[in-house]
Amino acid sequence: MTKESQILVTGGAGYIGSHTVLELIQQGYSPVVVDDLSNSSKESLIRVEELTGAKIPFYEIDIADSKGLASIFSSHSIDGIIHFAAFKAVGESVEKPLAYYRNNIGGLFSLLDCMDTYGVTQFVFSSSCTVYGDADDVPIPESASVSAVNPYGQTKLMSEIILRDVAQSRPNWSVSNLRYFNPVGAHPSGRIGEDPSGIPNNLMPYITQVAVGTRPFLRVFGDTYPTHDGTGVRDYIHVVDLAKGHIAALSYQKTVQGVHTFNLGTGRGSSVLDVVKAFERATGKTIPYEIVDARAGDIAEAFADTSKASEVLGWSAEFGLEEMCRDAWNWQSKNPHGYEDSSGTV
Ligand code: NAD
Ligand code: WQD
Repeated sequence: MTKESQILVTGGAGYIGSHTVLELIQQGYSPVVVDDLSNSSKESLIRVEELTGAKIPFYEIDIADSKGLASIFSSHSIDGIIHFAAFKAVGESVEKPLAYYRNNIGGLFSLLDCMDTYGVTQFVFSSSCTVYGDADDVPIPESASVSAVNPYGQTKLMSEIILRDVAQSRPNWSVSNLRYFNPVGAHPSGRIGEDPSGIPNNLMPYITQVAVGTRPFLRVFGDTYPTHDGTGVRDYIHVVDLAKGHIAALSYQKTVQGVHTFNLGTGRGSSVLDVVKAFERATGKTIPYEIVDARAGDIAEAFADTSKASEVLGWSAEFGLEEMCRDAWNWQSKNPHGYEDSSGTV
């Protein structure tokens, strides 16, 4: 059997992964997904198959399982890897640092070993704006100093360092560190989206759960930051734009070697109250809120300098804040209980 060239997507059943798998298929790539479903449902991939008409090879294994991983590389002709698989909850990482270091760093080791064994040279890494810590200036360029302030952030920083050192010793490798700002929204079809377990930590899924009636009101964490309205400012980016950024990185990587780091954001900062207002405008729903104390560890303001991604990758975000809110709500209202609602009512 002739093997076609394929992209291994770790964590491909997750929020950003499933949107990227869809985008890969739409742009002519053949993704192969590995996910242990520790924070996701296979339903996301079933829906991507429905949306695209493609069959997605899927392996339910932990990427730290070296033998299981090797069998995937033996069965497919993997050209490149997009590595999403990781634990991502900042607060939980403070409670369970060892689990975070083991999963997020241990998994990376297995993948890098397989790259050596199977001659794979292309790697795209899900990094995060969290590596900037509390940056001195905004917008934040890739050259800003890095400093993680919690175990989750440390795993992203350490992964970047490991990738840098390993890539230096393998001159034919090409690695992209994609530092995402705040991914939100969902595919406009409303078939795939963010499905957090338990009470959402992040702003947009909390707002959509208030809108759908699961939560009574939003707690706004602090209104005395030195920002235009006193609430925290972030760079929210539509997950479909983010997914497209990965395809742009893959395409660029074919032309270069070494390690390349890109911010993926919109370059625009929005406060918590800006998001609430945009959501209300986009959906016609009212979001009751109360101002409460600032959340420990939060920073006042973070948004990206996106000029490098624009100039080098030819990529920039297209969706605005209201479209992010519209699509987040479209997903939430059609799937009030996330992928649990997969009984044909959607
Ligand atoms: P997610 O939890 O929805 O997706 C991660 C996926 O990886 C899940 O499907 C989970 O089951 C899987 N996974 C975790 N550990 C695994 C393992 N050892 N083996 C196999 N599968 C495993 O999260 P997401 O929001 O889609 O984030 C994807 C990546 O982007 C993560 O690396 C995250 O740290 C990074 N990131 C996310 C954000 C964000 O706000 N969502 C921001 C910056 C960076
Ligand atoms: C956004 C703003 C909150 C919830 C996190 C991770 C970061 C990265 C992106 C992975 C802040 C405020 C929130 C609520 C609120 N993830 N807020 N009420 O903290 O910027 O970043 O996700 O790499 O590492 O830390 O995102 O969505 O939690 O908060 O007022 O119920 O909304 O204070 O100003 P954050 P967030």
